[in-house]
Amino acid sequence: MVLRYEAPSMTRWTARGVSSAYDSSFGYVSAQGAPLVELLDPQHGERVLDLGCGTGVFTSEIHSRGAEVLGIDGSAAMIEKALAQYPGLDFIVGEGDDFTVARPFDAVFSNAALHWMSREPDMVIANVHAALRPGGRFVAELGGAGNCAAMIAAMSTAWREHGLPEPELPWFFPSPAEYSTRLEQGGFAVRLLEYFDRPTPMDECPDGAADWVRVFGAPLLEGLPGDIVEPLLRRVNELAAPALRRETGWMADYVRLRFAAVRR
Ligand code: BEZ
Repeated sequence: MVLRYEAPSMTRWTARGVSSAYDSSFGYVSAQGAPLVELLDPQHGERVLDLGCGTGVFTSEIHSRGAEVLGIDGSAAMIEKALAQYPGLDFIVGEGDDFTVARPFDAVFSNAALHWMSREPDMVIANVHAALRPGGRFVAELGGAGNCAAMIAAMSTAWREHGLPEPELPWFFPSPAEYSTRLEQGGFAVRLLEYFDRPTPMDECPDGAADWVRVFGAPLLEGLPGDIVEPLLRRVNELAAPALRRETGWMADYVRLRFAAVRR
């Protein structure tokens, strides 16, 4: 087992001017900078579960570092793609709030997926706990409180202006305090927690915020009268542009919560 996960538990919150004294075995990882896989630091022969693996990009990277890895995702379409892209790797369809494993893992990794598992976050944490051996680590990054705030405000206003009820967002963006409490109550010791802004170029969204909503907010558009969708999205763009459109293109106002915790 990697000893550096056994150092004293201190929490570091960065961004928005919040920063506290900090001493942790995860300390070599700089705030914002290091990729999540560096924080996971997969070891040769370790068993790692990639929760919400999508098309398997990180699963493959973790595998390339010598770990045995299983990717799990709630979307059968994503898993189909992952299997096609990485035929030598193991992937299964499964939901974060409803999965079990036959044999405990050394680590559970999750990138940009936990915020989609919004129905029962404590159940997700309980399932991760059950999937880990004692001392196993849970290393993840998700949208934190304030994630996509300008985008969501633009949506909310546009919906209201079009006489629609407030959109019911399918995401969960907890504060550092909330999520660390959930982790502690779920049987984890939080060793590192970072909270930071990560403005992200919306390269795949030539039509800006409207495209973002088309892709990530698709469920919110389902069932709306067909003739309302385009004017609604045009209005989202107008409202979001002052905050999110730069000379170089559109930027998503992402806020990240990144943590490393150890199963007690
Ligand atoms: C994100 O923060 O990564 C995200 C949030 C909601 C939808 C899509 C992505």
